[in-house]
Amino acid sequence: MQVQVVQADITTLEVHAIVNAANSRLAGGGGVDGAIHAAAGHGLMQACRELGGCPTGEARITPAFDLPARFVIHTVGPVWVDGLRGEPDLLRNCYRSSMALAARHGCESVAFSAISCGVYGYPVEQAARIAVDEVLGTPSGDGIPSRVLLVCFAEPTLGIYRRVLAERQTT
Ligand code: APR
Repeated sequence: MQVQVVQADITTLEVHAIVNAANSRLAGGGGVDGAIHAAAGHGLMQACRELGGCPTGEARITPAFDLPARFVIHTVGPVWVDGLRGEPDLLRNCYRSSMALAARHGCESVAFSAISCGVYGYPVEQAARIAVDEVLGTPSGDGIPSRVLLVCFAEPTLGIYRRVLAERQTT
């Protein structure tokens, strides 16, 4: 599996699936969620409504409507409190569930946003370690994506993700 950190607006990427940092009501919001809904059009909100929400740490999949991607995987990251309320396990589950859904839907390429790294306040370096470890640790099996992009919108997130991936690849 090829894993890369890239700087991009995730709504522009031509990949099989993009992973949205959603909320548990799948009700849309600001940040990357707002950008994805704005670019995908009204169909995405309708599809999300029909799903009836998603618990923290889990993921759901919808078509991507007007986006260049084929699917949107909506995962709900934890709100960071102090790191002692299960936040790391919940964030790990976001990556695991999203990779499993991508595999089940035959997605060869998947682009993740930096789940929980915005308004949910997860310390970026810790979140980046979880993202990199979970993606690289995906058990091999039928249909697992061959290309995974970890998408950062801007610094300092980009630099932190790049360093964490480089460290992991040299150990
Ligand atoms: N493309 C890629 N990344 C983006 C984009 C974009 N267009 N817009 C923002 N980001 C980045 C942010 O810079 C941040 O690093 O996505 C990361 C995640 O930030 P948030 O979108 O704030 O997500 P999160 O911290 O998980 O909070 C989720 O925000 O909007 C609400 O409905 C959403 O309630 C949920 C909460």
